[in-house]
Parts: sequence; structure tokens; C-alpha cells
Amino acid sequence: MKTIIAANWKMHKTRSEAAQTAASVATFLGKNPMQCSVLIFAPFTALGDVAEQTAPNLAFGAQNMYPADHGAYTGEISPDMILDCGCQWVLTGHSERRRIFREDDAFIGKKTAFALRNGLSVMLCIGETLEERRAGQLRAVLSRQLLGGFADPLLNDVQPDRLAVAYEPVWAIGTGVSAKPEDAMEAHGIIREELISRFGSKGQDLPILYGGSVKPENSEELLKLDNVNGLLVGGASLEAESFIRIIRIGSEYAS
Ligand code: 13P
Repeated sequence: MKTIIAANWKMHKTRSEAAQTAASVATFLGKNPMQCSVLIFAPFTALGDVAEQTAPNLAFGAQNMYPADHGAYTGEISPDMILDCGCQWVLTGHSERRRIFREDDAFIGKKTAFALRNGLSVMLCIGETLEERRAGQLRAVLSRQLLGGFADPLLNDVQPDRLAVAYEPVWAIGTGVSAKPEDAMEAHGIIREELISRFGSKGQDLPILYGGSVKPENSEELLKLDNVNGLLVGGASLEAESFIRIIRIGSEYAS
């Protein structure tokens, strides 16, 4: 499976700033063929602008969507609107949406299935808080979030390349402290087991990305680990230069 290096820009960048960073990444990929896939999750307002940047192995996505075609859902956007901007992916279940916007597993599962049904590919984010980790609930939390996010039977027939999981321990997001290799490896191993029990052999082919304080300096040690098939990068993806450094490392670990 191809390593995925993904950027989550969260609520950063105006349209022109986003277009500029996406253009730098696209130019780099145009000149330097990389073995990994690169994905950028941009803010809604910039989706149309970033999608104009094309390069081999480069795709774009939104950070959220609402599970309905259209209607009275003030402030929300549908999968069709994301596709219409030229983007193919969406994130679901990010811990910031779980925590700040109170999204639960049932809603995240509904969004994941709706997005897939309507032609988007989905990266489901899961991860435990520090309290849950300290209470020995790592497996229980990951399993609950994974099975909740992937609950819909529709997913049984989905192509593995339209689905990905990002393991993002909440305590490592935006803190500058990434998970230690042994902690990341344990969590990724649990997720792989759960994916296989959910999907059978297809569970072997779903990429599992690590996210949480990824930087150029720690990318290699994370990508070396078993079952780490890519990285989801927040802060260090905002500058094209540091994101490109991570892409270069990702290309070395393309399996
Ligand atoms: P940081 O890389 O800034 O810790 O953010 C991680 C993240 O939440 C990506 O989705």
C-alpha cells in the first residue's frame, strides 16, 4: 500500500495563502516524482482554490461535512459541494470535532457512510485522551471509535483505497510531544487487529496514519514502525517547506 502524507490545515489560511502553499507543494511534486500520496485537508473557503493545483499523487479534501444532500442545515456543507470544488476526500471524527463540537461515534459513523455513499473518500480519525490512556482504556476507546465510525454495512463493500484511519492521540495534538515509537506502534497494532476483525483480509490493506505533533525531525522514526502507513500533519504542514521535507521522508517509506 502507498504511504500517505496528509496535511490538516484546520482553521488556518485565507484563500490566497492556501492556494500559495498548495501551489508550492504541487510545483515540488511536479518536479520531483515522489513514491507517496499527498493529501491536503484545506478549510472550506479554500477548497476550490487549492483544487486548481494539480500534480501527480496530489489530492485534496475537506475537514468536515454534513450527512445530507441539501436542506435547512445552516452553516453546513454536503459531500456534493466538496466534490464540486474538485476535492475527493473528507476527514471524519477528528478529536477537535469530537471534543469542541460534541460529535459522537454514531454521528461520525453516519457521516462516514454518507460521504462514501456520495463519492468521497474518507479518513476516519480516532485516538484516546490522556485520562483514557492512564485508565488503561486504550484498546476499548480505539475499538469503540473504529467500530462506531465504520458501523454501516455499506462499508463492507467499499474499496480499501477510499478509506483510511488516522490514529491521533489527543494528548499529542498540537502539544509538540508526539507519541513515543512504542506507544504509536502499540496503538497501530491494535487498530490493525480491529480493522481485520471488522473487514477480514481487506483490513490488512487500509492505511493507518499517525498524527499528533509530527515534524520533519520525527517523521522517519514514526514511518519506520509496523502498521504506520502515513502521517497526518497539523502545524508542520502549514509551511510548504516543512511539509515538503516530510513528503520527501514519506517517499522513502513508500511500501
Ligand atoms: P499537530 O500536528 O499540530 O499536532 O496536529 C495534528 C492534527 O490534529 C492533525 O489532524
